[in-house]
This record gives sequence, C-alpha cells and structure tokens, in this order.
Amino acid sequence: MADDTKATKDSFTLTDNRTGTAYELPVHHATAGPDVIDVRKLYAETDCFTYDPGFTSTGSCESKITFIDGDKGVLLYRGIPIDELAEQSDFPETCYLLLYGELPTTEQKRKFENDITYHTMMHEQINYFFRGFRRDAHPMAVMCGVVGALSAFYHDSTDITDPKHRLVASYRMIAKMPTIAAMAYKFSIGQPFVYPRNDLRYAENFLHMMFSTPCETYRVNPVVARAMDRILILHADHEQNASTSTVRLAGSSGANPFACISAGIASLWGPAHGGANEAVLQMLQEIGSKDRIPEFLERAKDKNDPFRLMGFGHRVYKNYDPRAGVMRTSCHEVLAELGVNDPLLELALELERIALEDDYFKEKKLFPNVDFYSGIILKAMGFPTSMFTVLFAVARTVGWVAQWREMIADPDQKISRPRQLFTGVETRSYTPIGER
Ligand code: CMC
Repeated sequence: MADDTKATKDSFTLTDNRTGTAYELPVHHATAGPDVIDVRKLYAETDCFTYDPGFTSTGSCESKITFIDGDKGVLLYRGIPIDELAEQSDFPETCYLLLYGELPTTEQKRKFENDITYHTMMHEQINYFFRGFRRDAHPMAVMCGVVGALSAFYHDSTDITDPKHRLVASYRMIAKMPTIAAMAYKFSIGQPFVYPRNDLRYAENFLHMMFSTPCETYRVNPVVARAMDRILILHADHEQNASTSTVRLAGSSGANPFACISAGIASLWGPAHGGANEAVLQMLQEIGSKDRIPEFLERAKDKNDPFRLMGFGHRVYKNYDPRAGVMRTSCHEVLAELGVNDPLLELALELERIALEDDYFKEKKLFPNVDFYSGIILKAMGFPTSMFTVLFAVARTVGWVAQWREMIADPDQKISRPRQLFTGVETRSYTPIGER
C-alpha cells in the first residue's frame, strides 16, 4: 500500500563500520508480528544490497490477508483463527473472507456461491487439450499445463488493468480448479470426465467429479464431504510461502492471472512445499513397521544423509502447526466413519510420538506440519497418492488469487527484481577457440 497508509513510522540506525557513516532507515509498524525496516533507499544511499537467500528475514510485501505467529502456533485468516474457521465455517465462506476481508452476510454468501458455481464448467475444447498428455503423467504436471492454458481459452478475463476482468478470472480459477483436478484424475485412470453438478456444494461437487461415473449413482458421504471442506479451509492461504511468492513475482510483471497461478502450481509441487503430503505417505510406506522408526529417525538426523522426516518442520512454525492439530482430529473422524483401520495411521502416531521426544527434533523445534496427516485422510477417502498435492493446489488457489489481487491493487507494487551478491569472474577478454 502507499506509504501514508502504513502505520506510524519509526526509524532504525545502521552504521557502516567501513566509513563510520550512520544511515536512518524508516521502520513500519505491523499490527501483529515483527515490524519491518524499510531498505528501499538503502542501495541508493549506501551502494550496498541486502543479502537474504531464502528470504528468512525479508518482508516482500505489505499484506492484510493472513497472519502467522510461528512461535505461538497461530494462523489467522483476516484475523480469525484457523481452528474456528475449520470448526464453524465452510470453504466458500472462507474464500469470501480471504478475498473480501470480511465474513459474508447470508445474501452475500448465497450470491458468491452462485457466482462461483456459474463458472465450474470447462470450455469443451479443453477435453481435447487433455488428450495430448500421456495417461501416466503426474497430475501436477497436467495441472501446470492445463491451468497455464486457461489464458488461451478465456481471453475475456486476462486484462489485468480491468477490475471486472480480474474478478471474473479470480472466480473462474476458484471454480474451475476442482474440475481440472478431477479431469486430470479421470484422464489418468481412463474414465470419462464427469461434468460439475451445480446443485452440489463446492467440496461435494469435487468428490462427485472425482469418484462418480456415468453408469451408476454416486452419493457423497456427508462426513467425507465435511472433511474435504475442512482440508480445503486449512490449506486455503499461508501468507508469503514459496508458491504464493511465486504467484506475486510472476504477477509483478503484469502477466495474466492464469499464467501466474500456473507458476504457483509449479512451485507448490516441490517436496519441501506442497509435495510433502505425497512424500509423507511414501515415507510411511517405506518405513513399513514401527520397529523401523529408530532407523529412519537416525537417517533424518544424519547430516550426510539427504533423508528428512517428511511432514516435519516448518520455516515459520517453531512451536506447532495449528493446521496439523485440526488435521489429526479430522483424520480420526474420517477413518472411523469409513471403518478404515489403516496401519499407516498407527505408524504415523508412533513416529510423531517418538520424534517429539527426541532431542534433535526438540532442539531444532521440528513438529508435525499440516502435511503429516493429510495424506492419511486423503488415502482413506480414495485419493491416489499422486493427487495429494493437486488437492493442495485446489485449496490454495483462493489464497493465490487473493494475494495476487491485493498485489495488483497496491500502489507500491513494482516488478519484483531482486539483486545479487556477485562472486564470479569480473571482466576478462574472449579467448578464440583455437587458443584455449
Ligand atoms: N527432518 C530432519 N531434519 C530437519 C527437517 C526434517 N523434516 N526439517 C528441518 N531439519 C533440520 C535441518 O537439517 C536443519 O538442521 P541444521 O540447522 O543442523 O542444518 C534445521 O532443521 C533447519 O532446517 P532448514 O532446512 O534450514 O529449515 P527451513 O526453514 O529452510 O525448511 C522445511 C523448512 C519445511 C523445508 C523443512 O523443515 C523440511 O524440509 N521439512 C520436510 C518437508 C515438509 O514436510 N514440508 C512441508 C512444509 S508444510 C506445508 C507447506 O507449507 O508447504
């Protein structure tokens, strides 16, 4: 936002010990969490850049959407704790909250759900687009491709200078993401695509498109639909994480929103980020039985072994991930409802217990994150492992869209163009090939 909308300024003095010169840097106060030192004029005044690979101490933007207190294990969407939303809200309402900043009235909620529902169907030509993929392609690869291709289908919502285009593109992405995800799954198993049903609510419709077939009636289990809705709420936004920052960075050049969300999906895919839910299940399967847990814990602690305990640790949470607690409870509910007795859940509980008592994990403040339990629930619901990260993408789309919209409306917004600490060869002459 513009400077004058920022909270009261203070200042921070930075002294250059090489020259003894002191510089006054403005400090902007946060409503919650750390204040920020404004270094925008630092380069002009000092001829130095800041250096922060991985952005561990860098605030990349001003935002009013999501707040995390990593030490206290707090996650708030527009000020409301995540567990309250998971208990009392539903995903469409949470989307409205993230996009508009307030909970909707009954009428606003009805209209919003109606507007989203209106956009669930895909352009029919996209069916042919799907056929270009191999059936054994990873569904995240398909998601990157198809979501990126939306800008080739919806030309009437790619002008980012037009607020109406921005709104329609936002609604389209939130509405179509479950349809695309279900199509990616159906394509991979050779079943016909299932069209959305607009009489169903968001989570129910997604389950319907995933698991129904044209040849028999499919009834959505309400406990499963509720759990799906909760998974969507828990993953909906997480402030400036890697994929959201990717969306903002891509969008900062003025790229259209479909292309930006596709970039976000690519970033989410990595195992250190959204790909962790898939990796957790693979890890639990690899561990196989409780007696092998110590062996894997030792590997996770070994600096010479690249193995990490997937679903453990977080850049920001250093106490516990509040999403993991909700997910753990939900996991028990779903498994009980479906009568699933999954030994992997037993294994996960035991792994969590042992790791939480282990000095290495205690000292490094490594706790289970949201992905530790999500894979077990999704597996019980019938989702194949390869679809887990796709689910994350479906849920996170609203967060990406809300953050992208906030960025476009921010008068302080510029193209994101980080600088570097150059340590390569300075200048040398070209050596002709015969002289090398
Ligand atoms: N298992 C074993 N050791 C770990 C783990 C782990 N899962 N996570 C961190 N460490 C160690 C790491 O080796 C390092 O030790 P040292 O200080 O001795 O070098 C220390 O803890 C700090 O780790 P880091 O990699 O510097 O921390 P980071 O903030 O850069 O990484 C993380 C955060 C989530 C990428 C990392 O904890 C990790 O790789 N976890 C496993 C993957 C995972 O579950 N990701 C899902 C994150 S939650 C969903 C989402 O938001 O996408």
